[in-house]
Amino acid sequence: MCDAHTRRILTFPAIRPSETAAPATLLFSLITLSDTISSYKSKPIYSNARNAKDSFRLVSNILVILEEIRRDQTCLSCAMVLSLSELHYVFQKLRFLLEDCTKSDARMWMLTRSEKVSNQFRAIFRSISVALDVLPLDSVDVSVEVRELVGLVKTQALNSKLGFRPEDQRALEHLRSILDQLEHQMVPDPNNLKQVLDHLGICSWTGCNKEIKFLDSEIGSEKSTSKKSDLGILSSLMGLMIYNRCTVFTTVDGERFTISGESHKSSSGHLIKSLKVDDFRCPISLEIMSDPVTLTTGHTYDRTSIEKWFRSGNLTCPKTGEKVNSSNLVSNLCIGSIIKQYCHENGILVTESVDSNRSRDTTNTDENTSGSVAANAAINITVDYLIDRLVFGTNEAKHKATYEIRLLSKTSVFNRACLVEAGVVPSLLDLLCVKNPKIQENAIAALLNLSKYTKTKKVLVENGGLELILEVAQNGLRMEARQHAAGTLFYLASVDEYRDIIGKIPRSIPVLMELVLEGTNRGKKNALVAIFGLLMYPENHWKALAAGIVPLLVDLLRSPCQHEDLLIDSLAILATLAEKSDGTMAILSCGALHVILDVVGFTTSRAAKEYCVTLLLAMCTNGGGDVVHVLVSNPALMGPLYSLLTEGGSRATKKASSLIRILHEFNEKNLSSGTRRSIRIQEQFVDVW
Ligand SMILES: *[C@@H]1O[C@H](CO)[C@@H](O)[C@H](O)[C@H]1NC(C)=O
Ligand SMILES: *[C@@H]1O[C@H](CO)[C@@H](O)[C@H](O)[C@H]1NC(C)=O
Ligand SMILES: *[C@@H]1O[C@H](CO)[C@@H](O)[C@H](O)[C@H]1NC(C)=O
Ligand SMILES: *[C@@H]1O[C@H](CO)[C@@H](O)[C@H](O)[C@H]1NC(C)=O
Ligand SMILES: *[C@@H]1O[C@H](CO)[C@@H](O)[C@H](O)[C@H]1NC(C)=O
Ligand SMILES: *[C@@H]1O[C@H](CO)[C@@H](O)[C@H](O)[C@H]1NC(C)=O
Ligand SMILES: *[C@@H]1O[C@H](CO)[C@@H](O)[C@H](O)[C@H]1NC(C)=O
Repeated sequence: MCDAHTRRILTFPAIRPSETAAPATLLFSLITLSDTISSYKSKPIYSNARNAKDSFRLVSNILVILEEIRRDQTCLSCAMVLSLSELHYVFQKLRFLLEDCTKSDARMWMLTRSEKVSNQFRAIFRSISVALDVLPLDSVDVSVEVRELVGLVKTQALNSKLGFRPEDQRALEHLRSILDQLEHQMVPDPNNLKQVLDHLGICSWTGCNKEIKFLDSEIGSEKSTSKKSDLGILSSLMGLMIYNRCTVFTTVDGERFTISGESHKSSSGHLIKSLKVDDFRCPISLEIMSDPVTLTTGHTYDRTSIEKWFRSGNLTCPKTGEKVNSSNLVSNLCIGSIIKQYCHENGILVTESVDSNRSRDTTNTDENTSGSVAANAAINITVDYLIDRLVFGTNEAKHKATYEIRLLSKTSVFNRACLVEAGVVPSLLDLLCVKNPKIQENAIAALLNLSKYTKTKKVLVENGGLELILEVAQNGLRMEARQHAAGTLFYLASVDEYRDIIGKIPRSIPVLMELVLEGTNRGKKNALVAIFGLLMYPENHWKALAAGIVPLLVDLLRSPCQHEDLLIDSLAILATLAEKSDGTMAILSCGALHVILDVVGFTTSRAAKEYCVTLLLAMCTNGGGDVVHVLVSNPALMGPLYSLLTEGGSRATKKASSLIRILHEFNEKNLSSGTRRSIRIQEQFVDVW
């Protein structure tokens, strides 16, 4: 299954049927394959269209021959089987080729490959002719007509005027001249552009966007190979298509205009629903795996973790201790793509877990360039065009431009840098005040993703963006806008200086808290992580306490069916607050101790358990004997503590063992003092031993 889905375009992983295959099976499979090939007839084909038509004609003639042979199949000779098996192999290739030719989103790419593709057709026809040449017709009883047909088909295969078609060649020349213009920083000739788009039947925003998505995924695959030779041309085409999408197709059709409704259909949807995020964590790093590899023992780890483990001199599987072969770590593509999809569907930003200390500005270096000179220029020209629309366009044009900017800011570091350098931020900030919900939402969504780029934060703050963003967080016209605003504040709160500035605006923390209360899950999450970020600045500690953050979060922990992510984030914030004694006191005074003990009992999330232990430890330290006493009389706590000792990360292990030590010491002291109560505890203890 995974193999079929991961075949890259213009590869032909055909397999020769085994010589020992039963002749009838082989013949049947060959006929099915011919039918499949014929079924491509109904799909539109844009480049190499005439070559494809020739191949349909050829295959339908061969199908007649095959049917005749099947009617007569008393016993097929060895030579016949060999010849059919060769035909089978060639037909597989033809099927792959036709699949690529009919791919609806790869038209641009197939045009640039059209000469190669025509050669491929020629090679396939030659192979078919060879296979027919050796077809031992004498060994079967077929009609004279069919014998004649075989002869005809052979010449058809040989003499067909297959080749690089002039219509493709013309379109390709137009395309080359467009890319050439881009390379010289010139705006592409609109007539050439129209010719190419017409030739490929790309006539809508959606059609154009499909090409972009295809090119983007192709670039992704290309980057993971070693040769990378197509990276330049793929990037140029992608830049060109982005230019087209933004400037040629002025109305967005088909696709819903807001991105929030985007969803992926998938065959593995049911499986994914039954999975939990903890299933995707690497047992070593406890982070969500970005490149899962499965060892020969069957256990899966993140590549960087297991490589580190191996480098430390241990050539064993961490889970089983068995010796393994480090030299062939193969990515588990299935799990990898399931994780990606899961994270996409659940809005999980893999690199952004709150408790990781990784800088959020450092991104994949590959993303830093657009991939080619022409792509650079295409994006550059597009960005200028869009900013012009933002400022001078009609409302509809402004809407379209904010939408395109939002899409661009999603895709790469390079795009974000281009947009910000060109001065898009002040224009977007102006649009936040427009009383148009769609424009406001797109503008704040774009700012959210742009603020991943370091310089954006500075420009935002210097242009008075903080107040505007807070205003949207509080009074945004749509809930989505409010949650994007909170997300933007989260990115801004990654800079110490801005944590201070944001904290000094009196309504900041209350506005975020309001969102924790009222928002959708995504909005709650964004607000929580923003608050967490702000707390990294010491001055904000008491501000958050004064605003009443603790009762809010404890209530959140109390509600039974809370989203796991929100639970973890709330605990993370409480654990941070508990580091100071006034924080602990605030937590204790709203009766949180039992709530936390409940969470330890029911949560299956390791991260949540870890934060609980951190909290309990801080409460023991700052809250004294009363807290310890409650914990000691709660035997259900020990199970989770001991399991953290054995399976947690090293930080968690340390904290769990500190807590266990405190509880033991408390017991021992009470043992020697000899009260009745302590004797009961002693008995429990004896039972355990
Ligand atoms: C490798 O791991 C095993 C099991 O955890 C341990 O016993 C052994 O000492 C480790 N070896 C090295 C070289 O770290
Ligand atoms: C590891 O793999 C290499 C080649 O893949 C092989 O030569 C070697 O014998 C393997 N070692 C073990 C311990 O399986
Ligand atoms: C995060 O980094 C800060 C300093 O930059 C450090 O004090 C803190 O301990 C780190 N936290 C974790 C969980 O590693
Ligand atoms: C990415 O690009 C920016 C600006 O173009 C540059 O300052 C930065 O050093 C680049 N980073 C990497 C890792 O190449
Ligand atoms: C983008 O265009 C501006 C002028 O509009 C130019 O200064 C800049 O160098 C261009 N950048 C790239 C990457 O082509
Ligand atoms: C920001 O970009 C990411 C991908 O980089 C995307 O998944 C997310 O939806 C974008 N956010 C918004 C608000 O558009
Ligand atoms: C023993 O437990 C009681 C509570 O039952 C507590 O008040 C007392 O301080 C403990 N004794 C010692 C010596 O810690």
